[in-house]
Amino acid sequence: MSLAERSINVILAGQSPSGGYVACPTFEPYRYSWFRDGAFIADAMREAGHYDSADRFFDWCAHVVLSRPTGPWDARYRLDGEPDPSDWPKLQIDGLGLFLGALRRRGHATRWEDAATLVTGWLERHWNEPCVDWWEEREGIHAATLWCVGNGLGSDEIKREALARAGDRVDGSLLFIGTPEIVERVEASLLVDGGVHRHLDDDYYGGGQWLLLTAKLGLAYVDQDRLEDARNCLAWIDAHAAPNGELPEQSQDHLLRPESYEPWVEKWGPPPSPLLWSHAMYLRLHHALRDRR
Ligand code: BGC
Repeated sequence: MSLAERSINVILAGQSPSGGYVACPTFEPYRYSWFRDGAFIADAMREAGHYDSADRFFDWCAHVVLSRPTGPWDARYRLDGEPDPSDWPKLQIDGLGLFLGALRRRGHATRWEDAATLVTGWLERHWNEPCVDWWEEREGIHAATLWCVGNGLGSDEIKREALARAGDRVDGSLLFIGTPEIVERVEASLLVDGGVHRHLDDDYYGGGQWLLLTAKLGLAYVDQDRLEDARNCLAWIDAHAAPNGELPEQSQDHLLRPESYEPWVEKWGPPPSPLLWSHAMYLRLHHALRDRR
């Protein structure tokens, strides 16, 4: 079975009857469904022809949104759509923008129109307020978050604001913006031996290279017609699949802080695998390269 087929199976196995995608089925802190991860996963499944899977995720999102129509909505909910009572940093508005973007790419989205209208109204009122970043570490106003929201709302003003902040620091999440200048900065400081780190301060499980970011870099290369470089990203991810074809969140080849690997293992067990978002990004790069052949 190819890694693309295996990825589809891992994703389908990780989708709950309610439509939510578990971030990682075997890692306790990730047994929730995130708007962010899920929006990328739904895009990948739609591209792979699994429209029903993507639509069921949108149903899950709409259920979450309509159950608490005034917002704000958390970054993640339990698979049954109920809130997560833990003190996880949950105000992360990028995922809401990503949800709107995924709906737009899907098209014919009347089934989710009520939820989309509520999310749109809420984001229009709150897009410029501080929240927690993609990596759930820092509170503030973040370029990647603004880009997700600007994209979701189709707002050039918010996207301009995102670009103005993109120089604040080098962070792999900026690959979502993916201008040639950002790609150059990521290559210069976060790309090591073919894999991409999140940021230079990373100590999560030692701060390895993330498979989903390496795929994002590959997608930016496809946009720049750098197809050979994009294929190398795909091959790097392939080489980091477990023997059973599962893709982890990160690789341990080059840890920025090796001494902080074990403390995380003691706290939460071995690092997450399979990560559905890694599988989704692998699929997206695979599709982008296939479409360019
Ligand atoms: C990442 C988030 C992600 C979550 C679930 C966290 O470690 O920082 O971006 O949404 O895992 O995959």
